[in-house]
Amino acid sequence: MTTHSFCTCRPGATVWLTGLPSAGKTTIAYGVAERLRHHGRRVEVLDGDEVRRFLSAGLGFSRADRDTNVQRIGMVAEVLARNGTAVLVPVIAPYADSREMVRKHHEKSATTYLEVHVATPLEVCSVRDVKGLYARQAAGGISGLTGVDDPYEVPETPDLRLGTHAEGVSESVDALYTLLVERELA
Ligand SMILES: Nc1ncnc2c1ncn2[C@@H]1O[C@H](COP(=O)(O)OP(=O)(O)O)[C@@H](O)[C@H]1O
Ligand SMILES: [Mg+2]
Repeated sequence: MTTHSFCTCRPGATVWLTGLPSAGKTTIAYGVAERLRHHGRRVEVLDGDEVRRFLSAGLGFSRADRDTNVQRIGMVAEVLARNGTAVLVPVIAPYADSREMVRKHHEKSATTYLEVHVATPLEVCSVRDVKGLYARQAAGGISGLTGVDDPYEVPETPDLRLGTHAEGVSESVDALYTLLVERELA
């Protein structure tokens, strides 16, 4: 019989990191994932860019496609979380009602869902411009960039709001990890 070394001694949960492009969602998600793994947790990261290559291949950036993308990711996250995995989801998810649908979907199976707003201001994100999207938008190469010429609906009551412009990566990772400990998820 094979045994695994991962602990499902804590309940699974979905931790959605929403925010503008270059806010720090991916960086924080992988940082927290590493901490959780180090403590023997089962962890998955469903990163927006990765997911769009497979699960959401063919979807674009219209409102309808963005909603479909978020619901698909939400469904996969819920299945994993319901089965004891800590799921980190660094995905923009610009629309409040779309995020709310994911929360409700988790409520139906009494699966924990936490919303983290990575609240880096646009001025900081556009200077970081990790993927060059802000520059491309400014040059007219793309349109429909969240926070610039496409909506971003700020979460009103997130479980945690991180100001990554005012702190380093390790502080942001610590803050989220501390929340998970407080909620007895880590
Ligand atoms: N406190 C912080 N938390 C997260 N990222 C930060 C922080 N401070 C600076 N950064 C930097 O901001 C960038 C965020 O990029 P990324 O995580 O890819 O953003 P997103 O996934 O939101 O598009 C990285 O280069 C990261 O090193
Ligand atoms: Mg990212």
